[in-house]
Amino acid sequence: MNNILKWQKVKNYNEMSRIAAKLIFNTIIKNLKIKNKINIGLATGNTMLKVYRNLADMFNNSGTNLSGMATYNLDEYVDNEGNNIYINHNLSYALYMKNNFFSLLNPNLEFKFSNIFFPDAINPEKYDTDIADAGNLDFQLLGIGFNGHIAFNEPLPADSISIEKFKALPSRIVELNELTIKTNAKLTAGNNLLKVPQKAVTMGMATILKAEKILLLACFPEQTIPLQMIKKNMISPEIPASCLLQHKNSIIIYTSDKITLTEK
Ligand code: GLP
Repeated sequence: MNNILKWQKVKNYNEMSRIAAKLIFNTIIKNLKIKNKINIGLATGNTMLKVYRNLADMFNNSGTNLSGMATYNLDEYVDNEGNNIYINHNLSYALYMKNNFFSLLNPNLEFKFSNIFFPDAINPEKYDTDIADAGNLDFQLLGIGFNGHIAFNEPLPADSISIEKFKALPSRIVELNELTIKTNAKLTAGNNLLKVPQKAVTMGMATILKAEKILLLACFPEQTIPLQMIKKNMISPEIPASCLLQHKNSIIIYTSDKITLTEK
């Protein structure tokens, strides 16, 4: 397959956040205009903080009616009992989304909180069928882990799984790898490894790759290594984000000026 992955290098984090928010805004407006609805896949992480602030500002200023927007988040941590962690857990991605995006939207826009979806650890694969039944994702926003993961699809050794099987992985519960726990402890838990749950429920590769359009954002120097491998057109389960090389409509917007500390 031809390499149709697009790349856009930007000056800094602020520019990345502005351009990304505009692209997401335009995609949402276009879908709402054409079919009165959009299914959008959303990501958490430090990378997205300013993107969401900009996006909320754009919607609030434009007064767009958001009653046709459904959001599907990529992942959530799972506790020792095998349930999604509660929204009052300070690392909860549901809490992150509420604080950093949903609550910023003016209620006049009529975005329905009942249209917010997360994978559920009790029945992860239902997420794939629910999304397929809803008509699949029109757009997916992605960050990238320092080890190249997307959502919580962690790298797997190339001799343990073929790329085709990797690309077909369903939504499921995963054990987080050591680097992910360390990174997330540093970025979100005051460097305390014990505060980061060891499991998560993630949207699978298959549903991500079925999205009509994918935007991946990167802004940390630590993400340069996986990005360089993808630039060399290396597709491997060892760098999950490299699967975008075989997606029909993906773009990576990147810079590397953000420091690896929580920034509110
Ligand atoms: C977590 C999430 C990913 C996210 C990654 C990067 O591991 N599961 O979906 O892309 O963090 O986060 P950050 O933006 O903080 O670098």
